[in-house]
Amino acid sequence: MAKVLITGVAGFIGSHVAERFLKEGYQVVGVDDLSSGKITNIPGGVEFIQGDLALLATIARIPRDCRKILHLAGQSSGEISFDDPVADLEKNTVSTLNLIRYGIENRVERIVYASSMSVYGAVEDAPISESHYCQPLSCYGVGKYATEGYLRVYLNKLPFVVLRMFNVYGPGQDLSNLRQGMVSIYLAQALASGQIEVKGNVERFRDFVYIDDVVETWFRAATYSSALGKTLNVGTGVKTTVGELLEHICTLIPGSSYYVQGATPGDQSGIYADVTQLKKHLDLDGFTQMEVGLRVFLDWARKTASNIDINS
Ligand SMILES: NC(=O)c1ccc[n+]([C@@H]2O[C@H](COP(=O)([O-])OP(=O)(O)OC[C@H]3O[C@@H](n4cnc5c(N)ncnc54)[C@H](O)[C@@H]3O)[C@@H](O)[C@H]2O)c1
Repeated sequence: MAKVLITGVAGFIGSHVAERFLKEGYQVVGVDDLSSGKITNIPGGVEFIQGDLALLATIARIPRDCRKILHLAGQSSGEISFDDPVADLEKNTVSTLNLIRYGIENRVERIVYASSMSVYGAVEDAPISESHYCQPLSCYGVGKYATEGYLRVYLNKLPFVVLRMFNVYGPGQDLSNLRQGMVSIYLAQALASGQIEVKGNVERFRDFVYIDDVVETWFRAATYSSALGKTLNVGTGVKTTVGELLEHICTLIPGSSYYVQGATPGDQSGIYADVTQLKKHLDLDGFTQMEVGLRVFLDWARKTASNIDINS
């Protein structure tokens, strides 16, 4: 079976995607610099290379016979991107440019890229399609959008699929990081203290998509010919307010409550996906319902709760 390169393999989504490719019989080479990922997340069977993809020395260590690149490595928080925008650019965009060069030199079949809803910025209250204009509000979003642009520039030499993921949640999310992942941040606080601090108003809305659906999307994006050259939203098409999410969590964890304080820089006030293209090109339908996904996430989180070390 072919060899695939999965970057960000020690992270939340990358580790799940790697697990799926291993199950399908692929050989998986995984790269991660362990800046936010954990070595314990990497599934057994992955040929692991520890290194920063912004450095050509790391690229040089990757075997030359990977047929696909699934590029999930990156600094993944809009909030953190303001701390050091140059570092964000290096981790996300320079890394991708290095991988594009690797892909062209080694005649890789395709690269699938982890983009984000953050590319859209402030939008109207309606499902947002891929043709909507992009005006990112965070340094993170700017980097993701620039990276998409580089992929388009090299499309003729390296076919791509761009996946603009919305809010992904589920088991494996880092419960100790209170600056990354809305669902995991709230769940971790509810479990640790029963008190959820919400940065920003509860009328904001999002499209929360469960990890298993995201893994399926990545697998199809990497293997379906109908995906090639496409930029696709990865969401459910369901609008959920932050208040509704909090109510779900407080119902699942009796005794927990929330309070609103401050805001997150570069936060989008509301956004959810038009998933017409996702359904059409990847033949996807029937996404996991939030009540179901949250319950599974909570069961997993309870098992790991003793290890939660909140470092806000
Ligand atoms: N989680 C979401 O809701 C979401 C939504 C949209 C887009 N994304 C994107 O999907 C990707 C995966 O997100 P995640 O939630 O799994 O985040 P994550 O932080 O759990 O995983 C990212 C991984 O990349 C590694 N990494 C970062 N920079 C690197 C570099 N320069 N070289 C090598 N490794 C590096 C980290 O150590 C980490 O293991 C990211 O690119 C993120 O921006 C995530």
